[in-house]
Amino acid sequence: MSDPIGIGVIGCGIIAATAHLPAWQRLRHRARIVAVADVREEVARQTAREFGAESWVTDYRYLLDRPDIHVIDVCTPEFLHAEQVVAALAAGKHVVCEKPMAATLSEADSMIAAAERAGVRFMVGHTRRFTPRYVALKKHVDEGAVGQVRLVREIERRPRAMWSVRDRETWKPDGQRPWGVDPRYSRGIALGSSIHELDLFQWFMADRPSRVYARTRITRPGGQLPDHIVFSVRFQNGGLAYSDQSANQPSDYPFYHEMEIYGTEGLLRANDPESVTFAIHRGGGLRASGTFVYVVVRPGWLRQPDASLSGLC
Ligand SMILES: NC(=O)c1ccc[n+]([C@@H]2O[C@H](COP(=O)([O-])OP(=O)(O)OC[C@H]3O[C@@H](n4cnc5c(N)ncnc54)[C@H](O)[C@@H]3O)[C@@H](O)[C@H]2O)c1
Repeated sequence: MSDPIGIGVIGCGIIAATAHLPAWQRLRHRARIVAVADVREEVARQTAREFGAESWVTDYRYLLDRPDIHVIDVCTPEFLHAEQVVAALAAGKHVVCEKPMAATLSEADSMIAAAERAGVRFMVGHTRRFTPRYVALKKHVDEGAVGQVRLVREIERRPRAMWSVRDRETWKPDGQRPWGVDPRYSRGIALGSSIHELDLFQWFMADRPSRVYARTRITRPGGQLPDHIVFSVRFQNGGLAYSDQSANQPSDYPFYHEMEIYGTEGLLRANDPESVTFAIHRGGGLRASGTFVYVVVRPGWLRQPDASLSGLC
């Protein structure tokens, strides 16, 4: 067997520590976490210790000079993605980058151009394409369960953002506010969360959008970034998709997804079951259902709900 590929991770915050680094560790026979980088020195040091990286640095550019690092995994906030990804690609590294790809379209274009110039692999982490629940829905769609997809409808409710997860605190660039609620560093729900649904819509519809219409609102008292969005997408094949999302529910409100995929032959409906009955939520801790019930309805037959799907995002 060939030597494991060398991994360098930029940004050691919540998503790195809860998803990327544990995943690289599980692949230890094929991948080796060589070094991590974070502007917060203590976070970089602690992360290297916790995940067995050989070294840590506060300036990510040192990772790009190391010949034993083959893949750079970018886990910083999106306003940093373009600079870090383009630099890593220019150094000849393969790159995995967290969603959303970039803060602007021109940044995204510059990243694609850099990947093409370098002739290496570049992947944006649209994680829902790997979540068992959505993989199962996609499989039914691809097998023709509903015929040709004409309409996708999605509702998502999230509890207010958690600014610490386990022993990790989200980054506060000015020492006061998390970057995710600061308009200098984030665009709010439209980019941070809706990118997941846009990606799912394209995946299920197997087509490209021709038109998007969106309205956002700030519902959080004192908030400066949109936390509620409704948007619709018209696809080139005439299909339509729409979504209604809120990220400002009380902290005990479960992550809630509801999805319907209508096709020429039937429809597929899926939802997290816990929120469909009468309930009042007033805060008190994160809850997640962990199951996703779905049903495929076609003239003449009914599939019973399958509650075996798991995984949230
Ligand atoms: N796929 C998902 O479901 C999912 C979930 C959460 C977050 N994310 C994405 O992951 C990214 C990071 O989010 P997070 O919640 O982990 O944020 P976070 O604040 O917890 O982590 C970001 C880390 O980057 C570090 N950092 C900042 N500037 C840096 C620099 N110049 N060089 C190196 N490190 C730097 C910070 O110190 C911090 O440790 C965002 O793009 C976010 O949208 C994706």
